[in-house]
Amino acid sequence: AVFSVSDYLRDHIRTVPDWPAPGVQFRDITPLLQNPRVFRVLIDAFVHRYMAPELRPDVVAGLDARGFILGSVVAYELNVGFVPIRKKGKLPFDTVAETYELEYGSATVELHTDAVQAGQRVLLIDDLIATGGTMMAGKKLLEKLGATVTEGAAIVDLPELGGSARLREGGLKLFTLVEFD
Ligand code: PRP
Ligand code: ADE
Repeated sequence: AVFSVSDYLRDHIRTVPDWPAPGVQFRDITPLLQNPRVFRVLIDAFVHRYMAPELRPDVVAGLDARGFILGSVVAYELNVGFVPIRKKGKLPFDTVAETYELEYGSATVELHTDAVQAGQRVLLIDDLIATGGTMMAGKKLLEKLGATVTEGAAIVDLPELGGSARLREGGLKLFTLVEFD
């Protein structure tokens, strides 16, 4: 049989209709994390890519909340630091902030002003790209501090929502593993 990492991962993503709002097909990645073999295939897909010298970042930034689960493990395996980009009001020190629109509602994210240094190469990780608003906000925060986002990575892309296309038009390179229409 032909083994495709993308198909293997897709088979372990659960779709929950009409959650958290009518019309939303929620792509639930918790089954990927729950199964240790699948979790390892998932993390190794990212680690393998970002181990390459030309793609290896100085820092991994993870987006609240599911980007923390992936980002911290990937950072650990790459032997680089991890910084969290959090929902408003959670970070205790001085922050930069960015407000954006979601598939459902709006949100503000924050980053500690000393989380990255000017000139650092940052890999930005989340679980999923829908409208792209979250990842774009994260990119802007990192750039406010003078860092360069070398690539955005996610497990899932929802291309019909146009987020990945908008992010690429905005100059962000993307790496995603599974697409859902
Ligand atoms: C989800 C997902 C991404 C974001 C993607 O997070 O984990 O962070 O939405 O949507 P976008 O591309 O339209 O911005 P959510 O806001 O549900 O928060 P959570 O991680 O705290 O559950
Ligand atoms: N975040 C935004 N849209 C989503 C979806 N359809 N599934 C999971 N997370 C999401």
